[in-house]
Amino acid sequence: MQQKLDEIRSEALNQLKGIDNSRDLESWRVKYLGKKSPLTSALRSLSALSIEERKSAGAGANRLKTLLEEGLKQKEQELQQKRLAAESASEAIDITLPGRPYPAGRTHPITQTLEEICDIFYSMGFQIKPGPDVEWDYYNFEALNIPAEHPARDTMSSSWIDFTAADGTRPMLLRTHTTSVTAHTAKEMEPPIRVIEPGRVYRYEATDATHIPMFYQVDGFAVDVGITMADLKGTLYEFARRFFGKDRKVRFRVDFFPFVEPGVEMAIECLACAGAGCRLCSNSGWIEILGAGMTHPRVLELGGIDPEKYGSFAFGIGIERLPMLRYGIDDIRQFYANDLRFLRQF
Ligand code: DAH
Repeated sequence: MQQKLDEIRSEALNQLKGIDNSRDLESWRVKYLGKKSPLTSALRSLSALSIEERKSAGAGANRLKTLLEEGLKQKEQELQQKRLAAESASEAIDITLPGRPYPAGRTHPITQTLEEICDIFYSMGFQIKPGPDVEWDYYNFEALNIPAEHPARDTMSSSWIDFTAADGTRPMLLRTHTTSVTAHTAKEMEPPIRVIEPGRVYRYEATDATHIPMFYQVDGFAVDVGITMADLKGTLYEFARRFFGKDRKVRFRVDFFPFVEPGVEMAIECLACAGAGCRLCSNSGWIEILGAGMTHPRVLELGGIDPEKYGSFAFGIGIERLPMLRYGIDDIRQFYANDLRFLRQF
């Protein structure tokens, strides 16, 4: 009997040593400690022995059982420890690794410019009023003193919307200037009025270094008792001073726009060539950045404002030219080419 127990012991312990996973350990347990194990049958066969033999063999068998159970427990702990060590090794954070870059988005230079302009006029008491990109002929032209057949229509090549009204006209287009919003404002608001109207405008034109079919403008419109040309010039000088700095030369010249009388254009000394003449300024040394004037009485009348009672000025600024001037960019198309190497500079 003792020999049998010794055999079981050495076989069981030998196998236990080689076990390295819990599935094999469970099979081992069933094999050596289960109901059908040689040890169990040895214990069962004790009844066939004499009392003396039974005593010593029984004690030996029970010792072996305890020994195997302890071996099992020890192995379980060993496997558990191995598992934990493997887990913590695979989940470890290597704090010496370089961090992952987390690129931050930024505001497009045109949006930055729009916001800056809005801030300047806002601080002068203007409120900001957007309007629709898709516009009626009436607000884009008629209400601004540009009737059908007026030659001024030809200077703003329009993108007409494919929609024909009952009377056969095609009355909708993508607005060609944000002055269309001024026509809405005149109709919707009561004086005193001070608004700026930023937005996209569209021209059906070929693209080159200074022309693109979609660009941005900010129009301004002020109506109040006693407003004169001096208010217009003072407002625009202040804008130029704040936007370009006080040393930048500014020039006003007479110009014609159907919705103002008199009309002017304001130009800024070219930054790219400092007045010497270059591609950006068509060799003139100056860049026209806005049109302006005293609002035409007809425009006020159509908006329900009495031109006898109120003075009014209006202006319209082309946006893209401003950062071009400021940063010496000589091709407007760069703003819309979506080249991040260009855009990230601002
Ligand atoms: N709408 C004109 C354009 O797109 C610019 C302009 C000129 C706007 C004079 C005005 C203005 O409000 O008074 O060329």
